[in-house]
Amino acid sequence: MQSAVYVFDAYGTLFDVHSAAARHAGAIGERWQALSDIWRTKQLEYTWVRSLAGKPCSFWQVTEDGLDFAAQSVGGLDRELRDELLAAYRQLDAYDEVADVLAALRSQGSQVAILSNGDPQMLVDAVRSAGLKGAFDAVMSVESAGIFKVAPPAYQLVLDRFGVAAGEVSFQSSNRWDIAGAKAFGFKTVWINRGGKPDEYFDLPADRTVADLTAIVDTNV
Ligand code: LAC
Repeated sequence: MQSAVYVFDAYGTLFDVHSAAARHAGAIGERWQALSDIWRTKQLEYTWVRSLAGKPCSFWQVTEDGLDFAAQSVGGLDRELRDELLAAYRQLDAYDEVADVLAALRSQGSQVAILSNGDPQMLVDAVRSAGLKGAFDAVMSVESAGIFKVAPPAYQLVLDRFGVAAGEVSFQSSNRWDIAGAKAFGFKTVWINRGGKPDEYFDLPADRTVADLTAIVDTNV
């Protein structure tokens, strides 16, 4: 059955978080993938620690902090390259299928939205640079909830914005931890397992697991 609202995580689901370092792989050197992996891992870790500790900060701050830790882990980066990587992070590549999937869902009468840890302006920049301005009915940052995902108030923003019940929402994320949080909250969940990773959080299963977003248009969740 078609869902009233399709909500998408942004970083890793719509936008390729590794495209920032990939663009500067030559300048970074052979450890560019290691840098990008550590960068993403620490960025996320910082969101969870700050949420649990009751010490919120912006997603941009944890993005900068994560890059600085990653840079130290691979031997350091000069200031100019650091700043270029941060600028690139505000203009990440969208995955190839995103625009068509959003248009198809809207043509079927559903609403489409982003729910992201990203700061509002980060999301404006990401959507615009990917050519997706106007492609969403709503672009929601958890900043207004004052806490990062997987805290329930973050997912509650969707119900407040669209006036629907949790079971009317299909939530798509490439981040399995985010799917666990969304499942706990009561959304229908689709794990976009882009990397073919092993499953986890078995008590909070995804309702569907697919390799990219194209599958959500063909069938209904
Ligand atoms: C987001 C990150 C956490 O977009 O993937 O919320």
